Amino acid sequence: MKFYSDILGLIGNTPLVKINNLTAQHGIKAQVFGKMESLNPGYSVKDRIGISMIECAEKEGTLKPGGTIIEATSGNTGIGLALVAAVKGYKCIFALTDKVSIEKLRYLKSLGADIVVCPAAAKHGTPDHYVETAKRIASELPNSFYPDQYNHPANPLAHYQKTGPEIWEDTDGRITHFVSSIGTGGTISGTGRYLKEKNPEIKIIGADPYGSIFKSYKETGRFPEATPYLVEGIGQSLPVGNADMKMVDEIINITDRESFELARRLSREEGIFCGGSTGTIFAAALKVAKTLDENDLVVFIVCDTGEHYLTKFHSDEWMKEKLLLEPQKITARLITETKNSGSPTELIFVTPNEIVSNALAKMNENAITQIPVLEDQKSVGSLRESKVLTKLLENRDLLDAKVSEVMEKSFPVLDVDASFNEIKKVLQKSPAVLIEDFKRITGIVTRSDVLDLQK
Ligand SMILES: Cc1ncc(COP(=O)(O)O)c(C=O)c1O
Repeated sequence: MKFYSDILGLIGNTPLVKINNLTAQHGIKAQVFGKMESLNPGYSVKDRIGISMIECAEKEGTLKPGGTIIEATSGNTGIGLALVAAVKGYKCIFALTDKVSIEKLRYLKSLGADIVVCPAAAKHGTPDHYVETAKRIASELPNSFYPDQYNHPANPLAHYQKTGPEIWEDTDGRITHFVSSIGTGGTISGTGRYLKEKNPEIKIIGADPYGSIFKSYKETGRFPEATPYLVEGIGQSLPVGNADMKMVDEIINITDRESFELARRLSREEGIFCGGSTGTIFAAALKVAKTLDENDLVVFIVCDTGEHYLTKFHSDEWMKEKLLLEPQKITARLITETKNSGSPTELIFVTPNEIVSNALAKMNENAITQIPVLEDQKSVGSLRESKVLTKLLENRDLLDAKVSEVMEKSFPVLDVDASFNEIKKVLQKSPAVLIEDFKRITGIVTRSDVLDLQK
């Protein structure tokens, strides 16, 4: 029989996958490979350190049978620890921030972990910060073990003993550049140390979100106040013990927009379904690879699976809300379906037989200055508050007239699949455009809706 004695046997030995389409589009001559850490049993690179920190604690006697593992995590280390805990019968409590995706929270609960959600805005060192929360629970709970992934030596060691050698062997020692993100720093420091020992010429490159401190810390030894960014699991507001800057040759800052765009394109154009930090890393890998030639070989880490982010950057609606969606993906349907922060909007309209005073009241109630006139779900005209008021100044009796007597011509109509550019073009001439689906008017897009998308 061929089998693994438990799920933990599947951790590590992840394959390299060559990037083809995205490198060709950028005219890249070097070979670029993703190391598929998303294929670990907990779907991330952090499975490697879950087992290594727990086995170390078992050896040292800091984790005893029936014990509880308590850790501060952006989700993936928690998943790696919870897998081991499930197999070995430990309990788990994880402190996370409210920035963590709902998918990771539910996954942790499915693995049997208890979770405590802390505000992402809490400052380092304050009681509400997720690291302080984990420390406090660990200090209060008997028979508990706090791995402290930010400082535990078994974190970089797992990468020194496994990730580094796997990359060296799978590339036949031909790797010239290694690109990774920096969260705890375990991946980059451990893998970097192994690769540099094999060949000191190999360049180790860190990808860091704008807003995190690592680039400035590496280059100047100082770190500015961190500012928020949306990519999960990477970057820091303070230096951390396991992020050994001596192992890193260069750090490249990447925006949220680039990170999410490239993670989404890795799915669409290479079939590699990954998380946002992989997008950050791949963006840096592309910037480096553009400067290299055919003798160079770049390996970057595919940190985790895109499934953890289906309600986040893998959703067009979420991307639109964050003003990050690629313009070609913004269609009339998406704009109308997600107006008003995602709550579905009923189209507000009047009929030609309604009385003008009612139509004005409806506009007032809904705080709008223009309204379509519809009959049998077809557009027959439009009302604009300023024009109606001008007519009323001349003839107040029109207040009791039918809408059909004062209405203007219809707003232009576009199909639900119309692109952002088509909509913008029509809005140059008209204050609003109606959206049609199967010959029925289903929505309206105004100039301010488009401006909201371009903030
Ligand atoms: C999604 C994701 N990417 C990257 C990393 C960074 O890895 P490391 O902590 O080894 O620096 C993490 C760490 O938690 C992560 O969750």
